[in-house]
Amino acid sequence: MGRGRFITFEGGEGVGKTTQIQIARDTLERAGIEVVVTREPGGTPMAEAIRELLLAPRDEPVHQLTELLLMFAARAQHVHGKIIPALEAGQWVLCDRFTDATYAYQGGGRGVPRQRIELLEQLVQGDMRPDHVILLDAPVATGMARARARSVPDRFEQEQLAFFQRIRDCYLQRAQNDPLRYHVVDASRSLDEVSQQIADLVGDVVRNLTG
Ligand code: TMP
Repeated sequence: MGRGRFITFEGGEGVGKTTQIQIARDTLERAGIEVVVTREPGGTPMAEAIRELLLAPRDEPVHQLTELLLMFAARAQHVHGKIIPALEAGQWVLCDRFTDATYAYQGGGRGVPRQRIELLEQLVQGDMRPDHVILLDAPVATGMARARARSVPDRFEQEQLAFFQRIRDCYLQRAQNDPLRYHVVDASRSLDEVSQQIADLVGDVVRNLTG
């Protein structure tokens, strides 16, 4: 039994990550692979407590460094307490967002310099990076409409369209820079079409490892 694979799902608000992670899980389980599904910020009890701090709307302005450090505090707990042990046990980990979200939201969205994020990434993760990043991409207005119809907006969802446009641009730029690891999926298509592409993509990853 080898080390498991680490696959992350990224994208703006309302792009359908949760549904597509379930499709990926089903595809892997049908291939006989043990799967752990998790999310960021969160994934362990303590990291979920940090998530609540991060998402709660509040009157006090949240400094960008506070937000950045809390994201990485949650990540440290999650990576070392859950993700690495699962991968070492041969399980595959599907994670709803990871450090690409920090580059996109705190970097692109809030304007934190990339070098600061790189520093914390190295500190918390060492050389650990996702094996594959599936980027669900949709026009910002489409995703925001879906997200707002779903629930009361959290602290991030209360931001303006321009914030989410910078996030989308940042994600697409990162995908363009590393096309072997990033898979961009057009999430504005029908649910059936997107789900089929996710199942095909995940199936390809499995075949490339076992074929
Ligand atoms: P979710 O709604 O997809 O569960 O994500 C929670 C929010 O946290 C979402 O608005 C994106 C944001 N986020 C960041 O700003 N930086 C990060 O590193 C992560 C993981 C999430």
